[in-house]
Amino acid sequence: MSSDGVVKVEAADMGRRRFLTTTTTVVGAIGAVYVAVPFLSSWMPSKKALAAGAPVEADISKLQLGQAIKVEWRGKSVIIIRRSEEVINNLSLVEDVLADPNSEVVEQQPDYANNQYRSINKEFLVLLSWCTHLGCSPTYTPEVKADWSGGFICPCHGSKFDMAGRVHQGMPAPTNLIVPPHQYLSESRILIGVDEGEQA
Ligand code: FES
Repeated sequence: MSSDGVVKVEAADMGRRRFLTTTTTVVGAIGAVYVAVPFLSSWMPSKKALAAGAPVEADISKLQLGQAIKVEWRGKSVIIIRRSEEVINNLSLVEDVLADPNSEVVEQQPDYANNQYRSINKEFLVLLSWCTHLGCSPTYTPEVKADWSGGFICPCHGSKFDMAGRVHQGMPAPTNLIVPPHQYLSESRILIGVDEGEQA
């Protein structure tokens, strides 16, 4: 990895995805674990890639349970979190407090993420870190407390979202957080900006 956090595509991958090198920016997680806040790191793609709205590749190979990484795509942060089995199982237990537990506002996620987990792979959640009220970046707050089952809290006007990005009832934010188009290039690499099944 270079000093600016950009990971070079391994030589073994070059043949298969050589064409991606001009249109995507590869970002990835590093091994360092932050004690208090479980973000691994976040990086900015090149200005050229941002300007072009290019897809962004995220390396999730080092992401531990409960941790998150952020990547930048089209001027917005995309957050990827890795959920434990317990967190996944608890998703069905909080539905009574949610405004749209079944993702009936279909614009908020692609069809392939319109499911109980709002994801392709239930272990990994991919969201725009962009509050659906006025666009602030909700804070990833996974620690469970007596009155909080984990999720995201918007620092601007207090909107709360669960561990699938589903908004709680009675919040300023009207809808669930957006799942951006994405696809898996492998078990450990997600391409943000291209829908599943479409040519990257
Ligand atoms: S911008 Fe998030 S609650 Fe207002």
